[in-house]
Amino acid sequence: MTETGIPNHIAIIMDGNGRWAKKRSLQRLRGHEKGADAVRDAVKGCAEIGVRYLTLYAFSSENWNRPIEEINHLMGLFRFFFKKEMKALCDAGVNVKFIGNINKLPDDIQVLIKEVCEATKGNSKLILTIALSYGSQSEIVGAMKSLGEKIKAGELEPNEIDEDMISRYLETDGIPDPDLLIRTSGEKRLSNFLLWQCAYTEFVFLDVLWPDFQKADLQVAVEEYASRQRRYGAL
Ligand code: FPP
Repeated sequence: MTETGIPNHIAIIMDGNGRWAKKRSLQRLRGHEKGADAVRDAVKGCAEIGVRYLTLYAFSSENWNRPIEEINHLMGLFRFFFKKEMKALCDAGVNVKFIGNINKLPDDIQVLIKEVCEATKGNSKLILTIALSYGSQSEIVGAMKSLGEKIKAGELEPNEIDEDMISRYLETDGIPDPDLLIRTSGEKRLSNFLLWQCAYTEFVFLDVLWPDFQKADLQVAVEEYASRQRRYGAL
């Protein structure tokens, strides 16, 4: 947390796009489109209040099990968003990073991802990490495999492994752990998101559906966070 009570790092599980659409008798896809608008506002809102790191759960490894039309539509939205928002993100000083199994995404999106990272890498006002095709358990398995390889090669002793080393082998290496995790839509689960990284994170669950999420909701979550005392297990 910064001196002003603003969390240094906010992670968001953006949930409720489908229910938002259903309430209006619209297709689920419309909910995702409105959800993309809310992403734009959330990035802007976080930059305005002085959050340094924002991590968004945009597509989980489990989301590949959704109907193919919905997956294709979401891929189209990511494509559109990265192309259209690239300049605005650059101008706003946002540094965009990605975590997840990017290799599973369509080739052109992988190219776009590289371009967005390259175009924004010099920025530091807000580090925006987008979790795409991401699953925390698989991320941890990947880290364990790499450590196992090091041990096998005789480059590491098992007793040298500690918490910091495991953190360095995760995809979030270099990004501080989230101070605040927000999940919208009233669901109260982590859903395979940043399991290791959220060991001491404060959770705030909001009833608002993601497409309706506004700066006022961000402020409610930040105020709730600031009112809590974090003791990290100590007294
Ligand atoms: C969860 O709602 C949301 C998703 C699986 C996708 C999140 C994607 C966006 C917000 C759109 C674009 C994002 C970027 C970064 C451009 P759900 O579909 O599970 O909703 P439901 O639980 O109400 O069915």
